[in-house]
Amino acid sequence: MTLAAAIGCAWPIASRADANAEIEAGRALYMQKGCYECHGMFGQGSITTGPALAPHPIPLSAMQAYVRNPKGQMPVFSAKILSDDDIARIHAYLASVPQNPPADSIALLSNGASLGSHPSSEASVAKPSERGPSIYAANCAACHGQSGEGGIGPALIGISSRFQISDIEARIREPTGIMPTLFPAPLNAGDVREVARYVASLKGSQ
Ligand code: HEC
Ligand code: HEC
Repeated sequence: MTLAAAIGCAWPIASRADANAEIEAGRALYMQKGCYECHGMFGQGSITTGPALAPHPIPLSAMQAYVRNPKGQMPVFSAKILSDDDIARIHAYLASVPQNPPADSIALLSNGASLGSHPSSEASVAKPSERGPSIYAANCAACHGQSGEGGIGPALIGISSRFQISDIEARIREPTGIMPTLFPAPLNAGDVREVARYVASLKGSQ
């Protein structure tokens, strides 16, 4: 049985919590299998590496067929590496991506240089205090949660009790585990500082 059929019929009667669990699992797979490296953290695509997949992915059956037999630069993902169920979860994640991610987060992902390679240009783009959250949303939230509550990556809420801002910067510059290398691109030194400052400010929900 294909999952296309299963999703088509079974999904509506599945509980909301199940649907959210599928989306979370899909997001994790999307990161772990490296789809994000070419198609962007939110499936928004990049001119240089891969087309947009979200927020309106191609139909599930077409996505399953494509991933097994891709064109061009895209690597093949066999059923051993990625099951049809897993593709369905990734599809659910991509379909759940909000319509309008902040424009500046897209600009940052597709071209890190656009948000100020020079200290002088930073002020003209946005005030530092405003840049931290958008850099975080574009580059960190997919793994560490929208509010730093954690996900694929550990929770960052309250991290300032353990880490100095310079320690957080060091973790971004020299990531471990599956955390991707984001410096020196797409994040420059200024971006790393801003996002580290923002991360240090994350506090638990009131
Ligand atoms: C190494 C880069 C790379 C990786 C990794 C990658 N893709 Fe792709 N993908 C591409 C490129 C490039 C294309 C466009 C290929 C073409 O048309 O020549 C593409 C096309 C697609 C398409 C077709 C989009 C359309 O509108 O027709 C889908 C669906 C897709 N990828 C899904 C995935 C999924 C799911 C993953 C992870 C399991 C993934 N890709 C991983 C590079 C990649
Ligand atoms: C693809 C997922 C992913 C992304 C994107 C990501 N991280 Fe991480 N991050 C991780 C994982 C996984 C770890 C744990 C690393 C380990 O286990 O060695 C981690 C660890 C960390 C740590 C150390 C936490 C601790 O308690 O030791 C910090 C700080 C951190 N990340 C900040 C960031 C920031 C800031 C960004 C965005 C600029 C970011 N991460 C982007 C996955 C990610």
